[in-house]
Amino acid sequence: MQDDPSPGYTSAWRAWRENPEAFWRDAARLVDWVEPPARIFDPALGVWGQWFAGGALNTCANCLDRHVAAGRGAQPALIWDSAMEGRVVVLTYAELCARTARFAGALAALGVGRGDRVVIYMPMIPEAVIAMLACARLGAIHSVVFGGFAAPELASRIADARPKVVVSASCGLEPGRTVAFKPMLDAAIALSAHKPQACVIFQRAALAADLSPGRDHDFAALEAAASPHPPVPVAATDPLYILYTSGTTGRPKGVVRDNGGHAVALANSMGMIYGVGAGDVYWAASDVGWVVGHSYIVYGPLLAGCTSVMYEGKPVGTPDAGAFWRVAAQHRVKAMFTAPTALRAIKQRDPAGRELARYDLSALEALFLAGERCDPPTSVWIAELLGRPVVDHWWQTETGWTITGGFRALGLFPPRPGSGGKPAPGYELAVLDENGAPVPAGENGGLAIRLPLPPGSAPTLWENPEGFRRAYLADWPGWYRTGDGGTIDADGFVSVMGRTDDIINVAGHRLSTGAMEEVLAAHPDVAECAVIAVADAVKGQAPFGLVVLKAGVAREESEIVRELVALVRERIGPVAAFREAQVVARLPKTRSGKILRASLRRIAAGETVPIPPTIDDPATIDEITATLAARRPAAE
Ligand code: COA
Ligand code: AMP
Repeated sequence: MQDDPSPGYTSAWRAWRENPEAFWRDAARLVDWVEPPARIFDPALGVWGQWFAGGALNTCANCLDRHVAAGRGAQPALIWDSAMEGRVVVLTYAELCARTARFAGALAALGVGRGDRVVIYMPMIPEAVIAMLACARLGAIHSVVFGGFAAPELASRIADARPKVVVSASCGLEPGRTVAFKPMLDAAIALSAHKPQACVIFQRAALAADLSPGRDHDFAALEAAASPHPPVPVAATDPLYILYTSGTTGRPKGVVRDNGGHAVALANSMGMIYGVGAGDVYWAASDVGWVVGHSYIVYGPLLAGCTSVMYEGKPVGTPDAGAFWRVAAQHRVKAMFTAPTALRAIKQRDPAGRELARYDLSALEALFLAGERCDPPTSVWIAELLGRPVVDHWWQTETGWTITGGFRALGLFPPRPGSGGKPAPGYELAVLDENGAPVPAGENGGLAIRLPLPPGSAPTLWENPEGFRRAYLADWPGWYRTGDGGTIDADGFVSVMGRTDDIINVAGHRLSTGAMEEVLAAHPDVAECAVIAVADAVKGQAPFGLVVLKAGVAREESEIVRELVALVRERIGPVAAFREAQVVARLPKTRSGKILRASLRRIAAGETVPIPPTIDDPATIDEITATLAARRPAAE
C-alpha cells in the first residue's frame, strides 16, 4: 500500500459513503427546482429506487433560461465548429434559449407534449441540440439515433419508442461523401410498424431533401413561424430521454434517463470531475448520437453555464492530424474529452506531435478519455506531448456519467497508465466472480456497482423494467453487473480490461456482435456464424466474422464475404465497420450445440485456450486459432 496520493478524494468519497443522502442533497442545490424533492432517495420506487421523488423541474430551463436570467445571455453557449463546412457558428445563451423556445413551440404545434416521444436522427449540427433541448422544454422524451446507423436500425428504434414526430436533416457530411439522411428516414418509416405523425427536416446547403407533403415540414420555416413555448415543469422521475444502446442480443436496449437525478449528477460532475464552471469552455469530441454527446456536448456543460464546443469533423483528415488541436486552441478550450481511438488515429499520422506544436494550447488544463480502455502507450504518448493531466475515466450509456476516474476538484491521482482511476463519490465497486463472490485485490473478475446506483443512472429500460432486472440486477443480488471485467488493486485503483459479454467496442462505438450475427445468418449461403472482436491498431477492436457455409454451396468464398460485408453495412450501418470475414469448416460447439463464444473471444485475444471437455469436435479450436493468428497484426 502506498501513502494516500489524493486525500481530498478519499475524504470526499468517504463523506459520500457515510451519508449518501447528504452528499446528493448538497449537489441538488446546483439545480433550480420548481418543486424541491420531498425525498432525496426512495428505495421503494422503480426497479432499484428513485432519486429526488416528489421534485419538479425543467431540464431545459436549467440549461438555458436560468443562465439568461442570471445575466449570462451574451455568453456563448454553443460554438459549432464544422471542419466539414469550414465555418464556425456561435450561439449565445440568449440566442440558444430563444431558438429552442421557438422550436419547442413548433413541436407543440405538431401535437408534441409531456411524455410524447420524438426521435432525432441528425448529423452534428446545432439544430440537433436545439431539438433535444426543445423536447426537454416540453417534457417530451427524445431519442437520438446516431447518424452512422442504417435504416433498419433506425426503424427498430422508431418501432420501439413510437415517436409522434421525427426530427432529421437532409444530410450528414463525412469525409469524401455526403450522407443522404432523408432517404434512410423514409426507408426506416416504411419498415417500422409505427409511423410518426410528422417529420421535421433541416435542409443543409450541401443537399436538399424532397419533403412529402402533409407529413414532412421544413425545420427553418417551422421554427421561424412558431411562438416561443415556456418550459413545462416535469417530475424529477419523469424520463428526459431514451438512448438505445447495443445489448448482447440483436435488439438494442432503450436506456432511460430521468430529469432530476440526471440534472443533479451532471451539474455536479462538471466541477468535481472536469474542474470547469460557468464561463469556461468545454469540449467533448463525440457525437450527439452517443451518451458522451448527450451528457457532455449538451446537458452537462449547459447545466453548468459553460460554453460547449460542438465539432463536426474527424481527428484526422479534416484536414490533417492537427484538427483537434486547432479546435482546442481556436476556442480556448479549458477541458477536453475524447476517445483513445481518436488519439491513436492522430498518433499514427503525427507521432512526433508536429501538428500539435503549431497551436497555442495554453488554455487547455486537462484531457479526459473514455469510450474504451486506453492502452498505456497511447496514454503516455499524449501526456508527454501535452504536458497536462490526461485522465482516463470509465463509464457507460447506462450510468450517464463517470463510474471511475480522476477528480480535478478533489485532487488528481498521480498518472497510472492503464488504470481508469478510482470510483466517483456515488459509486461503491467490487470485482466479483461468476457466483457473485468478491475476488482478492488485483485479481480479474466482473466489475459490479453496489445498489443503489447514483443519480443520473438509468432507472429502467424503456417500457421494460423486467429486462433491466434481468440484464443488470439478477446475477448478483444487491449489485449492478456492468458487463465489464477488470481488477481493483490494493490501493483501490480500478483497471477496466474489456467486456465480458458479446458487446465490442469499435473506434469508441459500442456494438453488438449478436446484431451482426443476425445479419450474417440471414445470408442464403450461411449455415452458422460467429462474430468476434479482433485487435485493431487504431479502432481498438474490429469485428471479424467466422462463417460456416451451407452444405453444397460452391460459390467463390471471397464473393460471399463481399456480400456479407455489404449486408452488414446496409442493415446496421457503416459505423459497424464490418470489413472482414473468413469461411471456416466448423465452429467450436458444445455437445448440446452451443457455440463457444467465450473461447472464441479468448482465442482472438491471443490466449491459448484449453480444449473444453464438452466440445464436440476438438479440431475446430485448432482451425480457428490458426485463422485468427494469421489475421492478428504484428505487435508494435
Ligand atoms: N454518419 C454517417 N456515417 C458515419 C458517421 C455518421 N455520424 N460516423 C461514422 N460514419 C461512417 C464513416 O464515414 C465510415 O464510413 P466508411 O466505411 O464509408 O469509411 C464508417 O462509418 C466507420 O466510421 P469510423 O468507425 O468512425 O471510422 P473512420 O475510419 O471514419 O474514423 C476514427 C476513425 C478513429 C478517426 C473515428 O472513428 C473517430 O474519431 N472516433 C472517435 C469516436 C468517438 O468519439 N466516440 C464517442 C465515444 S466517447
Ligand atoms: P457506451 O455505453 O457506448 O458508452 O460504452 C460503454 C463501454 O465502453 C463500457 O462498458 C466499457 O466497455 C467501455 N469503456 C468506456 N469507457 C472506458 C474506459 N475509460 N476504460 C475502459 N473501457 C471503457
